Amino acid sequence: MLRICCVVGARPNFVKIAPILRAFEQACRPDIAVKLVHTGQHYDPGLSDLFFTDLEIRSPDLHLGVGSGTHGEQTARVLSAAERMFLTERPDLVLVVGDVNSTLASALAAAKLLIPVAHVEAGLRSRDRTMPEELNRIVTDNLSDLCFTHCLEASENLLREGVEPERIWFVGNVMIDSLLRYRSNARRPEGLDGLPLTERAYAVLTLHRPSNVDQREDALTVLRAIEPVLAEMPIVFPMHPRSRTKFEQHGLGGMISGLGRLHLTDPLGYLGFLYLMDHARLVMTDSGGIQEETTVLGVPCLTLRTSTERPITIRQGTNRLVGLDRDAIAVALDDVLADRWPRGQIPSLWDGQTAGRIASVILDDWASTLESR
Ligand code: UD1
Repeated sequence: MLRICCVVGARPNFVKIAPILRAFEQACRPDIAVKLVHTGQHYDPGLSDLFFTDLEIRSPDLHLGVGSGTHGEQTARVLSAAERMFLTERPDLVLVVGDVNSTLASALAAAKLLIPVAHVEAGLRSRDRTMPEELNRIVTDNLSDLCFTHCLEASENLLREGVEPERIWFVGNVMIDSLLRYRSNARRPEGLDGLPLTERAYAVLTLHRPSNVDQREDALTVLRAIEPVLAEMPIVFPMHPRSRTKFEQHGLGGMISGLGRLHLTDPLGYLGFLYLMDHARLVMTDSGGIQEETTVLGVPCLTLRTSTERPITIRQGTNRLVGLDRDAIAVALDDVLADRWPRGQIPSLWDGQTAGRIASVILDDWASTLESR
């Protein structure tokens, strides 16, 4: 029996694990036992439960209940809870996805117990070590026996860092498996009836990076930078709880509510947000995954950061880095309105079949090397 523990903790993890769990189920292999573990990093219903429902993910087999904290506290809590859990469960493989604190901590707990680790979405690099996720990526990749990459550049990043070629598997983008599966089911989010969601006549904004919301000055700069867009069209802003708290702490709550065409909403589920992106004129974001999703949807994406770990979305897709630069946003807006934005193309193996390839590498290629050891 091959025992596999899949660990998730935060919103973007859920989008990636859903197709992988499905692929393991579809493999119909009586000789595997797959457990789903939720660390509890994201615990708000809007960041967690809604995603389990929309993406048809079964309830976790185990919940570590770690909650929020500083990076050190949160990572340490996952590390110690995951270690206890692995000692009881004794998995043959721990599978982690993405780059959140739960990813790093559970990979570390497994590696220290000499349990092999598989990392889905390996090899992404922004080269910006002030991003907590960049450190999580570097360490997780280093600890992983199987590195599943979503583009060849990510594989090359790993090779450059000394990862042996036999640990690297270019399988494509598993987030896009979810997007292609659910795109036709995406529906107008409930509770947004009063909002002006005329097709291609509104923008979507998401914001939660510490570098954009933690300091008052940066948060204020964001609000000023998006003014050219607000002058042209309404903006729908589903607010991450972290950003809501920060804007309130900075005393900017009133300013946000006063921007007439900026419509704040609670965080949306997967299907509602997919609908919102798919029908928007443009998306402004500091998220990683949204840069990829907009590339596949063909929607212009203005990334409110100065670096990206996903440069393929700029080279081949619909993404442009604009930082918090009001002028760069105004130029980008002109290009969108004048229809000068690249249509983009879909990167290789972002085809909806990635999870099947991951399952087959694990169950066929990797499991057979295990038997021969
Ligand atoms: C985390 C990930 C980030 C990912 C994002 C998606 C890390 C380092 N960051 O960022 O890569 O893009 O998830 O959302 O792992 N909070 C709540 N309710 C929750 C969860 C968080 O209110 O359910 C608030 C708390 O105040 C918490 C803060 O958000 O302290 C930050 O949460 P945390 O999970 O540490 O990081 P995110 O900003 O969500």
